[in-house]
Formats: sequence, C-alpha cells, structure tokens
Amino acid sequence: MSIALIILAAGKGTRMKSDLPKVLHHIAGAPMLVHAMKSGATLDPAKTIIVAGHGAEQVSDAAKAFDETADVVLQTEQLGTAHAVAQAKEVLFDFDGDALVLYGDTPFINPKTLEHMTAARSDHDVVVLGFEAADPGRYGRLIMEGEHLKKIVEFKDASDEERQITLCNSGVICAKSAILFDLIAAVGNDNASGEYYLTDIVEIAQRKGLNATSVTCDESETLGVNSRVQLAEADAIFQSKARVALMEAGVTLHAPDTVYLSHDTHIGPDTIIEPNVVFGASVTVENGANIRAFSHLEGCHVSRGATVGPYARLRPGTELAEFTRVGNFVEIKNAVIDEGAKVNHLSYVGDAHVGARANIGAGTITCNYDGVMKHHTEIGEDSFIGSNTLLVAPVAIGANAMTASGTVVTQDVPDDALAIARSKQINKTGLAVKLFDMLKKKKNNSKKEVL
Ligand code: UD1
Ligand code: CA
Repeated sequence: MSIALIILAAGKGTRMKSDLPKVLHHIAGAPMLVHAMKSGATLDPAKTIIVAGHGAEQVSDAAKAFDETADVVLQTEQLGTAHAVAQAKEVLFDFDGDALVLYGDTPFINPKTLEHMTAARSDHDVVVLGFEAADPGRYGRLIMEGEHLKKIVEFKDASDEERQITLCNSGVICAKSAILFDLIAAVGNDNASGEYYLTDIVEIAQRKGLNATSVTCDESETLGVNSRVQLAEADAIFQSKARVALMEAGVTLHAPDTVYLSHDTHIGPDTIIEPNVVFGASVTVENGANIRAFSHLEGCHVSRGATVGPYARLRPGTELAEFTRVGNFVEIKNAVIDEGAKVNHLSYVGDAHVGARANIGAGTITCNYDGVMKHHTEIGEDSFIGSNTLLVAPVAIGANAMTASGTVVTQDVPDDALAIARSKQINKTGLAVKLFDMLKKKKNNSKKEVL
C-alpha cells in the first residue's frame, strides 16, 4: 500500500516566544520538523505534504532542504487539526493509498510504531496512535470498547468520568486517503474550542459503518514541544538515546553526558570521544579515531586513526585522512589534510590542501581571505612549515619544501626548496644589560614622583 505523509506544521507556537516558527527550532542540529519527516520517511512515502501557516516560507524552505520533493500547502488560518489536514486534499485528490498524519512538533515517533500502525490498517479503516500517559493532563482521551476505538474526546469537552481515562491521543492518525478526506468533510466546529477537530473523524467513521482502532506506543515517543523548556527536554532525550546507541555500536565516550551529538552524527567503532566534545551537523568519524576533550566539529570527515584536539575546531569542508593529527587550538576549514600530516598547535588552515606527512608548525596561518575573496593554499607532501609561517594565499609550497619560522610566504616555493622571508638578526653585545639598568632607574624615579 503506498502511503502519503501529512505533517501538520501551521501552528504559531506562542509559548516558544520566538520569531521563528515552532517546528523550525532545532533538536540535535535539525529542525524538529525534519525529525518528524525523517521518522515518516522510513515508510518510503509516495508523497510528503507539509501543512504550513505561520512562517510558511521558512517552513517550506526547511522542508524542501530535507526533501526537495515535499509538497507544502498553506493553511492561512489555524481553524483546527481537521481543517489543517483538509488543506492537503488538493495534493491528494487522486491518491489511491493511505494517508498518515503526523505533527511537526512531535519529533520522536519511532519508525517501528508507524509500521505497527500501517499493519493495523489491514483490518481497520482508521488507526489512531495512543499512549498510556503518566499524567494525562489536557490530552484527548481514547474511548475504547475492546479493540475498537469508539471516539476521541478532547479534554475541554470531556466529562469527569472520561477525564479519568489515561489512554491518550498522540495525534498520529492513519486511514485511506480518500476516506480520510470524506470523514473530515463531515467534521463541524461545535465544541468547547470552536475548532475543527481531526479527532472527530473517529465517531463519524462509526456512524458511517467504518471501524477504528488504536495502536499504542511509549509515551516518550509522543513528546510534543511547546516551550523552550520542552525543547531542551526533547534535546536531552535525543542526546541520551544517541549516546547509548553510539556506545552500543562500539564507541567509547569517557563522559557521555558532556558529549553533544547531532541527528546525523556518524562515529565508527573503537573511536574514543573524550569529555566536552560538540558534534555539529554532518560529521562522520571513522573507526579508531581519537576526539580529544573540548573539540568542536561540524560538517567534516575524520578518517581512521586520526587524532583531533584537545581544543580543536573542525569547520565545514574539513577532510582529515587516516592517521592525521590536529592538535590544540587549531582551526581547520574547507581543507583536506592528507594521510599522516600533522597540524599540532595553534594554527589556522582554511581553503587548503595539506599533502601527506607534511608538518605544519605551531602558529602557522593560511591567510586565505583578502577582505573580498577567499584563496587556496597548496602545501606539498613531506614539507615542513616552520612555526609562525604566514601563507598568503593563493600560494603553493612544493613537496619536501621548508619554510623558516616566521616567514611570510607570498610567492610559490618550489619542491625541495627552503623559503625564508624575515629580517636578518643583529646581536648587540652587552646592550641588554645596559637597557635593563636604564629601565630599572626609570621605574625607581617614577615611584619617587608618586611619593
Ligand atoms: C491535539 C489533539 C489531542 C491530542 C494532542 C496531542 C485534536 C483536536 N486534538 O490537541 O487529542 O491529545 O493533539 O498533542 O486534534 N495545527 C495546525 N493547524 C491547526 C491546528 C493545529 O497545523 O489549525 C498543528 C499544530 O501546529 C500542532 C498540531 O497540529 O503541531 C496539534 O495542534 P494543537 O493545537 O497543539 O493540538 P492539541 O490541542 O494539542
Ligand atoms: Ca499540542
């Protein structure tokens, strides 16, 4: 059965107190909308439709950045969840499969749970995802009769007796697309909120002789985000699960609670991650690498056996080949560091290629930016860049070449050559002692003046 995802993301999210639409706030480096889309994508949907309203343009850009085939439909007024789903009809009018409704602010629905729902569809017309709530609060309640779901009552409209029910509505609903839109067409707004409730389709289905059931999942999956506090809680939940998954896959985390991961962080077995390491989006670390304390990585690839940090910063476009070493207070951006090369201390390497086994001395800087444009630096294999070398790009250092410490390199250096560009040293015999005496006298005189 082919499936279409309808992801509701039109709400403002007033409690976020933000100019950014709620669903675009990040959890582990990705908008929560993308987390919902990723979860739904595991069903290999034929169509993905995002219902946008507040900040629709931004929501659309974010959705399409993740899946350029996603359709975005507009709900100009937020009249309720049924009204929101109805906006997807224009895209699905001739769609023959099932439609699955997800919320953009409910990022953690497990793909397995969605499979259970689609499986339950084989003998039920409408399948609703429920959960046993520790504190049912203001959630809609599922009224069951055996395996049949009779209706969903919203908290505001529920009787005292119904409010005692702890089986709650997650909001996720699955039905044949055509049937879903038929049912929605019959939904009214005569209720405590004056909204068109999607949940009303369950009762309407009964009246039409269709049947509904619920599938349940763990409450943690249905966690919705409405405030910054809940955003932080959701992130923390994501982090602890992701850390456990990494450790189970063979990665050592010395202090797991201090390592921040992104939704797409990939780390190979036998890699060791020291405390206080941050992984921004799009980082891959291969096997047996060592990411030392207080390093920050983003948009980079670290190969087998490489060592990074402590206190290193790898920015987007960094590619470290096998057994490279990047040490403390080194920043690398858009640069390929070939096998066995070392950049051990206090350097900036940007828009560059460093050849295999090259040694980049402490304080080396690629001057890649002229104030208007960025330029490339090429460093040959087996070369030795002396400490405090400035490489004014565009510039190339040959293989087996050397630069003397403190050199400002403005011209290409051929293979095997040594470049020195600094003023000559002069030693003045005895002058240091004289200078010290003079300075000490000056200091004493200024103290007397003060007294
Ligand atoms: C909804 C359910 C409730 C369930 C709860 C779970 C209904 C009527 N109620 O209530 O049974 O327990 O979710 O969290 O469905 N949205 C739109 N357009 C709208 C209205 C909502 O896009 O016109 C989006 C919101 O942005 C949000 C989601 O739909 O992502 C749910 O809407 P919300 O208003 O939060 O529903 P609840 O009142 O929480
Ligand atoms: Ca809600």
